[in-house]
Amino acid sequence: MSLQPHGGKLVLNFNPNASYENVVKEIQLDAIALSDLELIGIGAYSPIDGFLAQEDYENVVQKMRLASGTVWSIPIALPVTKEVSATIEIGEKVKLTYNGEVYGLIEVNDIYTPDKEIEARLVYGTDDLNHPGVKKLFERNPVYVGGKTTLIKKSEKQFPTYSFEPSETREIFAEKGWKTIVGFQTRNPVHRAHEYIQKVALETVDGLFLNPLVGETKSDDISAEIRMESYEVLLDQYYPKERVQLGVFLAAMRYAGPREAIFHALVRKNYGCTHFIVGRDHAGVGDYYGTYDAQAIFENFEPEEIGITPLKFEHSFYCTACEGMATTKTCPHDASSRIILSGTKVREMLRNGEIPPSTFSRKEVIEVLIRGLRKEVHS
Ligand code: ADX
Repeated sequence: MSLQPHGGKLVLNFNPNASYENVVKEIQLDAIALSDLELIGIGAYSPIDGFLAQEDYENVVQKMRLASGTVWSIPIALPVTKEVSATIEIGEKVKLTYNGEVYGLIEVNDIYTPDKEIEARLVYGTDDLNHPGVKKLFERNPVYVGGKTTLIKKSEKQFPTYSFEPSETREIFAEKGWKTIVGFQTRNPVHRAHEYIQKVALETVDGLFLNPLVGETKSDDISAEIRMESYEVLLDQYYPKERVQLGVFLAAMRYAGPREAIFHALVRKNYGCTHFIVGRDHAGVGDYYGTYDAQAIFENFEPEEIGITPLKFEHSFYCTACEGMATTKTCPHDASSRIILSGTKVREMLRNGEIPPSTFSRKEVIEVLIRGLRKEVHS
C-alpha cells in the first residue's frame, strides 16, 4: 500500500521569514480562508499550492478535477469584495490578514467572479439557502482571487497537543510501525456507532487516526472543546492506546456530503492514511443527500486516482435482539430492536438533562457532554 501524498509529493508553502515590508495591498481573510491558507501551507491540500485560479476552479466545480486532471472535489477559493478586487492587479503580491495580523501572502494570478448558483448546485447538490454550506457560500464575498500562497504565520493552536501537520503524522505512523492506517473524520462526539465502525476497521488495519474536524461548523454542532474532552475519556477507557492517534483537522465543515467525502479522503491521504471510513450520510446535513451517496461517488474514479481506500460502512446501531452493535448488513431485526437516535434528538435529550442509553453512547462520553453543555449555558 502506498503512502504517497495526493499528486505525488507534499507541497509545502510555509515561510515565517517571508518579507512583506514592501507589500501594501491587503486582503482580509474570513475564518474559512484562514484555515484553508494554513492547510495549503502545511501540505494538507497537496497538490494545491494556493487559492484556485478560474481554470482549476471551473474544472473542480464541473468535473471534480483540477485543470491537470488530478481529482479534487471542493473548490478552495479566496473570496473578496468587489471593492477590494478593484484595487488589486494580476501579478502583484498581496498580504493576507486576519484580525489585523499578517498570516500570508498571495501572488495574484487570477481575479474572477464565480457563478455561485452553479457552484451550489454542482458542489452541494442544491441551491437551497437553508443548507448551511450553501448559505455560507452565498454569504462569502462575491469575487474570487487565485494565486500561489505563502503561509507566514500559523494560527494559535486551540489543541496544541493534538495539532499535527501531514509531515508529522507521517513520521508518527512510521515510528509506530503502522503500514496501514485508517482515517476517521468526525464533527460529532464518538458514539457507539462510530466506535463500532472504527473498531471493525481496526480489526484489519494497523492504526486508527481519529481526526475530528475543529474548523468552522454550524452553530448547533457540539463545540470542538467539548468534543475533544469526550474523545479523550473514550480513548482512555475503551481503545488500545498503541493503536490510535488523535489529531485535529483544522478545516471548516462544508456539509457538502459526497463531494466532501472525496475531499476528506484525499486530505487524509496527505496526512499518511491508507484507508478512510465513509459511513452513512458522510458530511451530510438534513435530507439533502441519499444515505450512501457519499460512498457511491467514489465509483466515478479509478482507485489509483484517489489513492486511498474508502472503507464503506452501512448504518450502524445497537440491536437489542442481536445484543450487540450491528449494521443493516449484519442484523436481520426490524427497527423496534434498533437503538437509533438522531444528533438533534440527542442534543435535545442532553439539554433537558436526559441521559441517552449506554447502548447509544458510552456513559463517560455522555457525562462530558452534559457537563460541557451546562458550562456553555452558564457562560
Ligand atoms: S461528518 O459530517 O463528519 O461525516 P459524523 O461525525 O456524524 O459526521 O460522522 C463521522 C463518520 O461516521 C462519517 O463517515 C459518517 O458517515 C459515519 N457515521 C456516523 N454515524 C454513523 C452510523 N450510525 N452508522 C454508520 N456510519 C456512521
